[in-house]
Amino acid sequence: MELTNITGLRGEISVPGDKSISHRCVMFGSIAKGTTEIQHFLHGADCLATIGCFRRMGIEISCSAGTVTVYGKGLHGLTAPEEILDVGNSGTTTRLMAGILAGQSFDSKLSGDESLNSRPMSRIMEPLSKMGANISSILRNNCAPLYITKGTLSGIHYESPVASAQVKSCILLAGLYAEGRTSVTEPSLSRNHTELMLREFGADICSTHELDTTRATASIQPCKELYGQKITVPGDISSAAYFIAAGLLVPDSEILVKNTGINPTRAGILKVCEDMGGDITLLNERTQGGEKIADILVRTSSLHGITIDGDIIPTLIDEIPIIAIMAAAAEGTTIIRDAKELKVKETDRIETVTDNLKAMGCCATPTPDGMIIEGGRPLHGAYIHTLLDHRIAMAFSIAALIADGNTKILDSHCVDVSYPGFYEAFESLL
Ligand code: S3P
Repeated sequence: MELTNITGLRGEISVPGDKSISHRCVMFGSIAKGTTEIQHFLHGADCLATIGCFRRMGIEISCSAGTVTVYGKGLHGLTAPEEILDVGNSGTTTRLMAGILAGQSFDSKLSGDESLNSRPMSRIMEPLSKMGANISSILRNNCAPLYITKGTLSGIHYESPVASAQVKSCILLAGLYAEGRTSVTEPSLSRNHTELMLREFGADICSTHELDTTRATASIQPCKELYGQKITVPGDISSAAYFIAAGLLVPDSEILVKNTGINPTRAGILKVCEDMGGDITLLNERTQGGEKIADILVRTSSLHGITIDGDIIPTLIDEIPIIAIMAAAAEGTTIIRDAKELKVKETDRIETVTDNLKAMGCCATPTPDGMIIEGGRPLHGAYIHTLLDHRIAMAFSIAALIADGNTKILDSHCVDVSYPGFYEAFESLL
């Protein structure tokens, strides 16, 4: 994809359904009794991988006229897959599904693409093994492909060293199949879609926050059945983030991003935009299926650098690439700390973000747990090496809109992982 600078992005846009929530609807619907009807499902490659895996385990899932219907077979209704489960590029599919597979009475193998198969899985293998699961890394490198065989699970209390919703959700899902209570404490609260949605499906699940620290605990009791639900997936704030940034950065712009999820465990980007001096207003705030939603109005603004660290990091971890672009355009220095997790995303995003920023003429320095960006220098066009990371492709597409000259986004088709139609969506705002 080749892009150049523009002015005047104006109009309304609705972004596709939230990726995290779309995955969970299919997974929980598959192990619930009765049908789950999903509106505004994200038909991105990652969520389609989740659908493919559950179909392989005997679940009928239909996609028609804007509705995805999952014909759930109950907590013990999955059947042994005949082939290896292909999780594609999706960490969420891998880690959450491993929690469900650990509780099954059949053996399974799961594997993904090169990026997925190099991401750390010891973070789920360790707690699942403590619960009595039999899970191993086939190549003995603590990565997928994973092999999971029948085990008898017991509830544990797990102190997670990382604030990760994938780890927390994996353990809670295994907890549905365990003897006794299972709980997970994380150093600070990660996205809580699993807790909110499992409760809607009828699970006995609760969350607590320690008063004097930022630690958060979620606990679950095994239950007899979950029950199918009707769900409308909110627009994905991680996808909305590119239009929010475009609205703030491209001269003479005003964009309304409609029906976007603003769950506080996901909405750190909104605070960052405000702290950087962005003109951003939430309209029409409401709650749907336990999830907060709003329309987000953004107008072109002069931004300034800030420091981003501590508990806000898990609430904006996927938005750091686009925040880095805003920082490059802002006056002054932006420091991002406490974000070591960036190293184990689809790419090492500390490296992919700073390398590509440097290619565009920005002074960006990687640090062991984040980056330092000296903003305010004009950006120029460059070849962007996405390394097939969808968020790098989209973030640097926005950088291209404010850079002098042409920018070429290599392997830009990788946006399909979370946002098929990303480039077409811009045309409606021109
Ligand atoms: C996700 C959790 C986050 C996030 C990922 C989706 C989820 O990962 O980066 O894109 O749906 O639970 P971690 O849990 O590893 O932080």
